[in-house]
Amino acid sequence: MTEIPVNTSPFTCGSAPGALPGLGHIWPLLHLPTAFLAELPAYGDLVEIRLGRTRAYVPCHPELLRQVLAGDRTFDKGGSYYDRARAMAGNGVATCPHQDHRRQRRLLQPAFNRARLEKYAEVMEQEITALAASWSPGQVIDAYPALYALSLRTVTRTLFGTHVDEEAVEGIRRSFETAFSGFFRQMFMPPALRRAPLPANLRHRRALRHLRGTVERIVASRPRDGADRGDLLSVMLASRDEDGGPGLSDAEIHDQVVTVLAAGTETVAATLTWAFLLLSRNPAEQEKLRAECAAVLGGRPARWADVERLPRAGRVVDETVRLYPPGWLFTRVATAETELAGRSLPPGATVVISPVPVHRHPGVHANAQEFDPDRWLAARAAALPRGAFVGFGSGARKCVGDAYGMTECVLALATLVSRWDVRAEPGADLRPVPLAAFYRPRRLALRLTRRTGPG
Ligand code: HEM
Repeated sequence: MTEIPVNTSPFTCGSAPGALPGLGHIWPLLHLPTAFLAELPAYGDLVEIRLGRTRAYVPCHPELLRQVLAGDRTFDKGGSYYDRARAMAGNGVATCPHQDHRRQRRLLQPAFNRARLEKYAEVMEQEITALAASWSPGQVIDAYPALYALSLRTVTRTLFGTHVDEEAVEGIRRSFETAFSGFFRQMFMPPALRRAPLPANLRHRRALRHLRGTVERIVASRPRDGADRGDLLSVMLASRDEDGGPGLSDAEIHDQVVTVLAAGTETVAATLTWAFLLLSRNPAEQEKLRAECAAVLGGRPARWADVERLPRAGRVVDETVRLYPPGWLFTRVATAETELAGRSLPPGATVVISPVPVHRHPGVHANAQEFDPDRWLAARAAALPRGAFVGFGSGARKCVGDAYGMTECVLALATLVSRWDVRAEPGADLRPVPLAAFYRPRRLALRLTRRTGPG
């Protein structure tokens, strides 16, 4: 176990071995992402890897990662991940450069305040209750698609209120699946190959056009009567700039909507899928969680007011995001010559942001590979170095939907685990695969056994 003295150490720099000509480290990144990234701290606090022919630098020490995330002017959104994300989601709050970010974030932030979250939690509760009721004893479910359907319905209803029909949700789901599948493959593809008229590229472009068209239609058909319908779109339409003039333009609203759909669906579905896998592998933890839910809920579905009374559920979510952060890899680009870990980086240098090297660093987290939700008990968490948990990012670009995502995951886990015992079926393929913008198990079937209530 390596001890890493935080703040005071002269940071070490190194390179990851095993780069292949032309491909660099793309193969292990796409096929063994957790193992590859978790191993990087063995080579230094700042480790050079190759994305194809491009050199990229991975901060593996919590303090270095914090410096990059805090320095959002010097380490701006850019590089291969955000170039791809911008091509798909436009210039929304998650993808825009530093110069546009403060304004966009200020205009969007009110959509995530407590009063609105409380409203969104009602939608979450309804959708989770409906899912729990749709399951039957002995059934085997394909975990990710079931949880993806839950998070997509929730995010579309909280975005658009009742102003969206089943057909539009299904259209969004289909075009998202095609447009975002293979995100990472596309990201690492040479641009000429991406532009070629290959069937996969044509399908991808068609799906993006369809997605944009569907979102445009929903936004355009919304009455502009200034009424607050309690959804995210109401906040965007009512936004005002600092001088009182109109806030987000139609094009900007469109990009924010696609951004929220992209950032708020897969992340929650992946977290819940990994959580069920971890609980299935750790039956004692599943029982402890069920006991907490029984005491607090007494068999009814979890709702907003319960979230803070379900601290164990919160710890299970934190621990899941520590071990399997859905946002496993992002990029930044240096906007000027700068120094990191004592190493000089030229303008245009790519920095890879991943929570994995820090979250699985044996010098940061004791028994780092183990699922131990109680490591997030206040006294134990307080002893961790600053920056030990970055599952939602940090600094100015920290996840704006963190409380939304936590609430949805806690409510879903509490209601579903109280009613159903979940066990992974044999034959699961648990390799984390970055199939779209985030990563999740390749295949996980769960067998359901009824515990309490009407299902
Ligand atoms: C468990 C669930 C979630 C996880 C693990 C997660 C993770 C993250 C991470 C790591 C970032 C920072 C990316 C970077 O620094 O490059 C981020 C940003 C963002 N997330 Fe989340 N997220 C989750 C849920 C959500 C939800 C539910 C929404 C919206 C409904 C959302 C919307 C966003 C947006 C808009 C940003 C960009 C913020 C900015 O740049 O100002 N996320 N998220």
